[in-house]
Parts: sequence; structure tokens; C-alpha cells
Amino acid sequence: MIVNGSAYTAVDQAEKEPDLAMLLNEKVPIVMAEEARTLKAPFIHYSTDYVFDGTKTSAYTEDDKTNPLNVYGQSKLKGEQAIGQVGGAYVILRTSWVYSLRGNGFVSKVLSWARKQETLKIVTDQIGSKVGRVQGADFTRH
Ligand SMILES: NC(=O)c1ccc[n+]([C@@H]2O[C@H](COP(=O)([O-])OP(=O)(O)OC[C@H]3O[C@@H](n4cnc5c(N)ncnc54)[C@H](OP(=O)(O)O)[C@@H]3O)[C@@H](O)[C@H]2O)c1
Repeated sequence: MIVNGSAYTAVDQAEKEPDLAMLLNEKVPIVMAEEARTLKAPFIHYSTDYVFDGTKTSAYTEDDKTNPLNVYGQSKLKGEQAIGQVGGAYVILRTSWVYSLRGNGFVSKVLSWARKQETLKIVTDQIGSKVGRVQGADFTRH
């Protein structure tokens, strides 16, 4: 099995480095998928909810229409499509809001801010997932 955890993940910076984003998120996965096909090994690849435009008001399914709004999302979608064209056995996981205590994820940032500041100011216009209707509320925000 080949698992690809590497990627160009600097979402904002990708607007200034589209070629590098495409190299890492489209071309590199092609090489890995081809190698997996040669070895007859399954290829596990991480993609993102950024392949969607975020306008849907319920949970996305894999059959929903993609419409990336930025270079990062476009590069990840191109990677997905290219892997499919290689023709080996593959799984693509469109994950979101991945975090750990290493690295620079949202949870690490909030923990770091909380250690320094009494009051945290955080944007409210980003929605990680929308979970059904809960007792009169339209959505549960995470
Ligand atoms: N984090 C999220 O919330 C999130 C959400 C949706 C999807 N994803 C997807 O999940 C996957 C993993 O994301 P992540 O957050 O774990 O990413 P990350 O922390 O930015 O890790 C990316 C990895 O890619 C490696 N890498 C980047 N450029 C490289 C290069 N030129 N050559 C060799 N290695 C390189 C990095 O190596 P170094 O450590 O040496 O820099 C790092 O290990 C990605 O496919 C991403 O698109 C993540």
C-alpha cells in the first residue's frame, strides 16, 4: 500500500505559487499512483473539502459537483482526477480540519492563543461541517 500524506497545503500562498501547488498536488500524486499501479498496490491519497465551493447547505457526498474556488482546491481536484486516470486501485479521502498536537492546525493554534490571551477573537464565517437540523437550529457549527 502506498499512502500519500504529502501535499502543498499553504492555501493562501498557493495563489502566488500555482505552479508549485500543481507540481505537488497533481504531478507528484501521478508518479505515486503509477508506481502503485506497477506494484499492484492500493494507493491511498488525501484530498480536501476545498474541491467544493461550500455553497451546499447539507453534507457533501462524493457524487456532488466539484467547484474549487482557489488554486489550492483546483490543484487538489486535478490530483484526484489524474489519479483516477492512472487506472490503478486507489482511495481518495476528502478530509477537512485535520489536526494534531504537532504542526500548525486549528486546534494547536487555539491552544497556543489560549495560553497567551484571556479573550480569543476568531472568524465566524468558516464552517467545517454542517450537521443536519438540531432542535430548531439550522446547523451545528464546528
Ligand atoms: N490539515 C487539514 O486540515 C487538511 C484538510 C483537508 C485536506 N488535507 C489534506 O491532507 C493531507 C495532509 O495534510 P497536512 O495538514 O498533514 O499537511 P502538512 O502538515 O502541510 O504536511 C504536508 C507534508 O508534505 C510534505 N511536503 C510538502 N512539500 C514537500 C516537498 N516539496 N517535498 C517533500 N515533501 C513535501 C511536508 O514535508 P515537511 O514536513 O518536510 O515540510 C509535510 O510532511 C494533504 O493532502 C492535505 O491536502 C488536510
